[in-house]
Amino acid sequence: MVSRETDLSILSEDFAADPYRYFARLREHTPVHYEASIDSYFLSRYQDVKRVLSDHEAFSTETLQVRAEPVMRGPVLAQMTGAEHTAKRKIVVRGFTGQALADQTRAIRANAAELIAPFLRRGRVDLVNDFGKPFAVHVTLDVLGLDRKDWKRIAAWHSGVAEFITSMALTPERRRHCLDCAEQLEAYLAPIIDQRRCRPGEDLISALCAAEFDGIALSNRDVTALLINVLVAAAEPADKTLALLFRHLIDHPGQLARVRRDPALLPAAIAETLRYTPPVQLIPRQAEKDAVFTGTAVPAGATVFCMIGAANRDPDAFAAPDVFDIDRPDLGSARSFTAAAQHLAFGTGLHQCIGAAFARAEIETVAAMLLPLLDDLRYSPGFRYRETGLYTRGPASLSLDFTPTKEIARR
Ligand code: HEM
Repeated sequence: MVSRETDLSILSEDFAADPYRYFARLREHTPVHYEASIDSYFLSRYQDVKRVLSDHEAFSTETLQVRAEPVMRGPVLAQMTGAEHTAKRKIVVRGFTGQALADQTRAIRANAAELIAPFLRRGRVDLVNDFGKPFAVHVTLDVLGLDRKDWKRIAAWHSGVAEFITSMALTPERRRHCLDCAEQLEAYLAPIIDQRRCRPGEDLISALCAAEFDGIALSNRDVTALLINVLVAAAEPADKTLALLFRHLIDHPGQLARVRRDPALLPAAIAETLRYTPPVQLIPRQAEKDAVFTGTAVPAGATVFCMIGAANRDPDAFAAPDVFDIDRPDLGSARSFTAAAQHLAFGTGLHQCIGAAFARAEIETVAAMLLPLLDDLRYSPGFRYRETGLYTRGPASLSLDFTPTKEIARR
């Protein structure tokens, strides 16, 4: 049955307040939920989501031409297919894996140490707004080769670009604001790209400028689009994952104590966080031909949203899916950051996230560094937890109190 019910709207305030309350109902009763106001279909079962993301012929990324291209200022990786996709994806992947990743881990540690320092003696930090957001942007700027002193401007433009991509409906005023942000970001990048063409460095901008596809160097438009693509893709989910990891560990003190004693458990805790509360909740595709899911028809040309949060909680894929359990045998922490991942937080198939290994290094390095510095970790008095976002989702803030370690108190 296609859901044309009026009692549940994925665009309602109730759903936005806590989508997890509705996932079982959607999977069981209306696994193909139709949202008339945006003429789109929402799939919530693990097998259906996996099928859409794996079958690139039947489900294309055509919708990104409207959803992403205007603010990316050109075509992004997720829109490409075939030889062009393979070649350009390889260039970007090289910037985030192997030796590059080893070098970046040092920069990740330095960024984290600098950003947490002012909060250590105070015994209180908002892990999202004081630390996570600036951290995610700083680290991404380092990899791209952009100046960290510009981070506030870049973060503001970045959030306009992200708002455009992740909104279900934008007012004309917000749309104009988002496009302004994208234009300013493009204007900021243009002279930097020109400069790296003349004097290349070790960063991703230089690598993109030096790269060729079919014997032709990438144009400034291509380089700009890939840079904005990586900036948004890397910065948007990182602070959310870090905050969600800390939230789940604080809510499960036994598991927190074990992770503190044995940081080798961190990859399993991060993988379970990504399964349990994936920061990217929706992935859009376009049906290229008529399709049928559990007896329900979806017409050619329709926009289909894969509901990653609902799929990752499907009891057909994971036992006791609503339980946060870093020991779960059906996840596998090592493969959780590879193409063989069982959870769908990084997508799957041709367009699966290229930053999975980098994201793991980022979160693991920071958590391993912060946990020993923050004793007796707890929510600040009066703090009320609230998540926001339908497309990408994470805590609006995470105010934590802790006892500064004796070593910090002595400093
Ligand atoms: C926890 C952190 C992250 C999560 C949950 C995440 C999630 C995702 C998801 C769900 C997709 C698939 C989109 C689709 O199929 O349309 C994706 C693609 C992508 N991600 Fe990530 N991501 C993360 C971190 C990063 C980082 C650190 C980078 C930096 C390099 C990155 C770069 C990309 C790129 C460039 C793509 C497009 C790949 C393609 O189309 O071939 N992501 N990510």
